[in-house]
Amino acid sequence: MSFSETTRVRAREIIARYPADRSRSALLPLLHLVQSEEGYVSPAGVEFCAEVLGLNKAQVGAVATFYTMYKRKPTGDYLVSVCTNTMCDMLGGQAVYDTLAEHLGVGHEETTADGKITLEHAECLAACDYGPVMTVNYDFFDNVEPQGALGVVQELQAGGRPMPTRGARLCTLKEMAVQLAGFADERDGAVADGGPGEPSLRGLRLAEQHGISVPGFDPRTPIRSKAEADRAAAEAKAKAEAEKPAPAPRDARAAEAAGAAANPPAGDRKPAGDAAGAQERNLKDAETGTDADGADPADANGTGVRK
Ligand code: FES
Repeated sequence: MSFSETTRVRAREIIARYPADRSRSALLPLLHLVQSEEGYVSPAGVEFCAEVLGLNKAQVGAVATFYTMYKRKPTGDYLVSVCTNTMCDMLGGQAVYDTLAEHLGVGHEETTADGKITLEHAECLAACDYGPVMTVNYDFFDNVEPQGALGVVQELQAGGRPMPTRGARLCTLKEMAVQLAGFADERDGAVADGGPGEPSLRGLRLAEQHGISVPGFDPRTPIRSKAEADRAAAEAKAKAEAEKPAPAPRDARAAEAAGAAANPPAGDRKPAGDAAGAQERNLKDAETGTDADGADPADANGTGVRK
């Protein structure tokens, strides 16, 4: 698998977001990026990430297999995740899942024969107050019941792109992976603002009604919208900048630098590649299909063991 020029350009852009000696931090978005091209993280995707970051394939594979959002086998255009964790299950999540499984003829982490829809059980999707919930490519459908969920899936099968409860009209999993890699979501309504919904505030309301409070917490503290929170954060940052102490005199800074040089951090024996020069070399090698020592990097099983 040779990744497209667009993916290579985006990979450079992602790596450039991190300090040269912290390039391995780019691994999570890079895994989303390779997933945006292939629909899953293939052995070739693991190899690409390893090459451009100067890591070995075992290191990349360890991360890719830890997080459930990185798929290890081809996944449908639409990933339907039904929460069957405790709260959603109590509210009917399993019935939603069973209805979809029967309709699609697939089970957990299986994809329909036309490659369109993958179904999965999900653990808590962090929207218990709207349970039972399901997501399609990580966009939420709140308070779903079997027939409503079935309607969404049937619309997808008919080629439609239903509107989730919040956010923009659905996109494909590959399109979503580009956004998860940190690139702007251009869909209308994709970036919304607004305060929390009533179900999210229910506990607070009950606490108010019953006079329950946490020591030191004022229940009348306003809950800000995103715009208000951003404004407050910008003001706080400006204030902190204004109050920052003047830089230390030159000789004190030189002494500090000398101390730091004499006491390198212990134990972080990173593999080669965290330096900017090595990154560039690795990226070039990835483009030409060779690795840093000129060897063929192919490793079809993606285990990190070089042939
Ligand atoms: S249990 Fe389903 S979102 Fe939390």
